[in-house]
Amino acid sequence: MTIGWDEQTREFHLRNERLSYIFRVLAGGSLEHLYLGPALAAGPSYGHLGRREFGGFANRLDDPIALELPTAGRGDFRMAALVVEGTDGSTVLDLRYVSHRIERGKPAIPGLPATYVEMDDEADTLEILLRDEPSGTEVRLLTTIFRDMPALARSVVVRNAGAGPLRIRTVMSASLDLPDDDWTLVHLSGAWARERHIVRQPLGPGRQSFSSGRGASGHEHDPSLILVRPTTTEASGEAVGFSLVYSGDFLAEAEVHLYGTTRVRLGIDPETFTWTLDPGAEFASPEAIVVYSDTGLGGMSDAFHRLYRSRLARGSWRDRDRPVLINNWEGTYFDFDEDRLVAIATVAREVGVELFVLDDGWFGARDDDTSSLGDWWVDRRKLPAGLDGLAHRIEGLGLLFGLWIEPEMISPRSRLFAEHPDWAVGVPGRERTESRQQLVLDLGRPEIVDHLFEALSQVLSSAPISYVKWDMNRNITEPYGSTLPADRQGEFFHRYILGVYELYRRLTAAFPEILFESCAGGGGRFDPGLLAFAPQAWTSDDTDAVERLSIQWGTSLLYPLSSMGAHVSAVPNHQTGRITPLATRAATAFFGVFGYELDATRWTAEERAAVADQIAFYRAQREVLQRGRFVRLVGPEDGDGNLVAWMAVAADRRRAVVGIYRILNRPNPGPRRIRLRGLDPAATYRVSTWPAGDDDAVSRANQGLRGGDVLRRVGLVLDADRHEVSAEGDFWARVFVLDATG
Ligand code: DGJ
Repeated sequence: MTIGWDEQTREFHLRNERLSYIFRVLAGGSLEHLYLGPALAAGPSYGHLGRREFGGFANRLDDPIALELPTAGRGDFRMAALVVEGTDGSTVLDLRYVSHRIERGKPAIPGLPATYVEMDDEADTLEILLRDEPSGTEVRLLTTIFRDMPALARSVVVRNAGAGPLRIRTVMSASLDLPDDDWTLVHLSGAWARERHIVRQPLGPGRQSFSSGRGASGHEHDPSLILVRPTTTEASGEAVGFSLVYSGDFLAEAEVHLYGTTRVRLGIDPETFTWTLDPGAEFASPEAIVVYSDTGLGGMSDAFHRLYRSRLARGSWRDRDRPVLINNWEGTYFDFDEDRLVAIATVAREVGVELFVLDDGWFGARDDDTSSLGDWWVDRRKLPAGLDGLAHRIEGLGLLFGLWIEPEMISPRSRLFAEHPDWAVGVPGRERTESRQQLVLDLGRPEIVDHLFEALSQVLSSAPISYVKWDMNRNITEPYGSTLPADRQGEFFHRYILGVYELYRRLTAAFPEILFESCAGGGGRFDPGLLAFAPQAWTSDDTDAVERLSIQWGTSLLYPLSSMGAHVSAVPNHQTGRITPLATRAATAFFGVFGYELDATRWTAEERAAVADQIAFYRAQREVLQRGRFVRLVGPEDGDGNLVAWMAVAADRRRAVVGIYRILNRPNPGPRRIRLRGLDPAATYRVSTWPAGDDDAVSRANQGLRGGDVLRRVGLVLDADRHEVSAEGDFWARVFVLDATG
């Protein structure tokens, strides 16, 4: 890995074995992008990839020049990456190169989550200083290249080096101009209970964008954007992924220009953002991660997974086995007492569960969702011996104890609201819009963050708590910072998220042994920003196995299995009413951080035995399922969408676990082969199936010894017996374990 600088050609070449990123300083001082793609030789000039005659936009408006940091008002009529309003009200900006430095390693971004390195030789960082003299705007443009991944991190620091105030109107974390528009846009989109489904659309002229103005990344769009060639597959072709390490309002946009070039922008949504910079003050953008893959979407996902699992997630739980949990939410909702919880935990312990999580309803006087958020003390009506008493009983069973909290919220019916009505977000003189009967605390105010840190620290030290589920169940309306002056109201949303990060930072630092799981009505804030604090997230409130196939498939484009909470719940499913076999629910949830979300006391003896077997299986394969390489094989987007197959492969390729799911049964099916990827072609694997003892045509056709090359070129065989198939029913699943022999 190197960052080269050539004095003569004024070119920067960031390079590792997998990619090159090249740009240069033009005579006028702006930065022209030259190349992003597979690694090119270090040394030669790549200036011929640029616009030869370029001398600034004055002579040719709309020049399709590729820029590293496009600004407004000088003839580039595409959308700008940085718009700063000067003291004269003008937004024209002409940023010129001043100097640069190359550092080993990767600096942190104050106040914001970011990827990191553990050793300085894992990455190099280029910092370029640019200045616009008339306005006094100074910019530090930071680009990190990672040694072992086809990944770059980009961020921007804007400083006011002038004498009067500046106002940032737009600050993108990354902007990249690509030389053509022959791309298909791949994006993760959805809604509550059906988050992060993959959508694809060919790029067309103009702007196509996804954003959030909710105060959170949201259920609707992931803060990312992926471009693939029309011919790209999971295993081959180009894919460029852009992902924002941020949890608030974002914009992800591709803009096709009149000459057929494509500009991608990713950053805080300018629609709900402005930031005033007093003289001498700085503003740091969140970071954007750019991954380039010429080995298909799978190669892109692999890089994101490795980066996000090992150099974004952090803390004592990052690399540890995540416990198999049981959560009481769908089992009891608000209707529980200590004995009922202990009864569930007792059964759960017997079948091998490792962590019991007490969800919503343990505090204040919360019997439904109309009250008590903010009143973070135990409800002794339900738990007479307090959290401590309950936690000790749970621990006595041999389980860890975990707890749900929703720190950012306040119920109008709460003691906290009676004491501090002004702490809830709202515009004075206007009615506040409630959602789920709750309002949002203004975490942009440091005293509120202080209060929450104190209140929650007390809770977390009051009992042996090993896990916290941090929920957030509504988006922000009437955004207004009651302590911000009128001309700084555009800072509200970003300040809110900075407050969330600060509270997370303080709590995770004060309780380093607690495993945090983030949640927002399921996956309403499942984003890289929170992964930096909570290494796992509740993927969706939808626990239906069929819906989960689409959700987990889509989520895996960017996020590793170790980040995806995945639970078996009761049937009929509470979100879809669907009845799926217990084994299928488990086979789906295995590909994530596994757990249960139901009342275990309702299991029959047969179900208990099946669950004990599921947990034993997951624990035996946990290393591969939580930390292996995830490979998507056949997905909801393929063919008629009836078949899904995926696999996880150990780093040394000695073991793999494959899940195959058939949604609807069809009579008299033909044979089908599922080719595997990521195995050692020279190895011989012993193939076994789960559930063990299944003696059906599929198991019989696959069990035994198979060469890695055969599994790659021919695959597993779905050769069903027509008589057996008639008895199988819908929602069939089978898991295969492949162990290298010798
Ligand atoms: C929404 C979460 O996603 C659920 O899992 C549960 O914790 C409820 N909130 C509790 O109110």
